[in-house]
Amino acid sequence: MNSPDRSYQLRPLTMDDFQQVTNLWRSTDGMSQLESAEELGRFLTRNPDCSILAEENGQLLGAILCGHDGRRGYMYHAAVSALARGRGVGRTMVDYCIGQLRDLKIQRVTLFTLDDNCPAKEFWKHLGFRQRHDITQFAFDIKEFS
Ligand SMILES: CC(C)(COP(=O)(O)OP(=O)(O)OC[C@H]1O[C@@H](n2cnc3c(N)ncnc32)[C@H](O)[C@@H]1OP(=O)(O)O)[C@@H](O)C(=O)NCCC(=O)NCCS
Repeated sequence: MNSPDRSYQLRPLTMDDFQQVTNLWRSTDGMSQLESAEELGRFLTRNPDCSILAEENGQLLGAILCGHDGRRGYMYHAAVSALARGRGVGRTMVDYCIGQLRDLKIQRVTLFTLDDNCPAKEFWKHLGFRQRHDITQFAFDIKEFS
């Protein structure tokens, strides 16, 4: 996953990266609710090798959480640290995720952006993603019952 024409490396995101990717996501605008360690562990166990991070000289540059439910793929928390933006890190990580999903025969990948995250919307459109206007999302918060 290393290319001679770029100085950063990609590698699959694992539980060992929990703290540093959480720090990146926490410090990045536009991130929705983050996972606990338990939730991230469950997600990575169900979706091995789909999520990715980029690093350079041991420094985390970016990360994406990616997985699928057997039918559709999903990407969450696409983030590149502010100083590393504009170097192709985001696109390279997205390409990796799509490639992994393609190998798993997943035919569509969906992601969610906050309504007011205009730069992110432009980024996804630039990468060929289409904004959907035909869907409204509903959610139900499942409370713990003892
Ligand atoms: C969105 C983000 C991940 C992009 O990462 P990046 O590494 O800077 O992007 P890249 O350098 O890989 O850019 C890839 C292409 O998208 C274009 N692009 C990047 N940001 C763009 C924007 N806001 N609007 C339009 N095009 C954009 C680049 O010009 C580049 O074009 P090219 O490959 O045709 O030359 C990064 O800006 C970020 O972390 N933003 C904050 C977090 C966020 O909002 N994430 C999305 C949550 S859904």
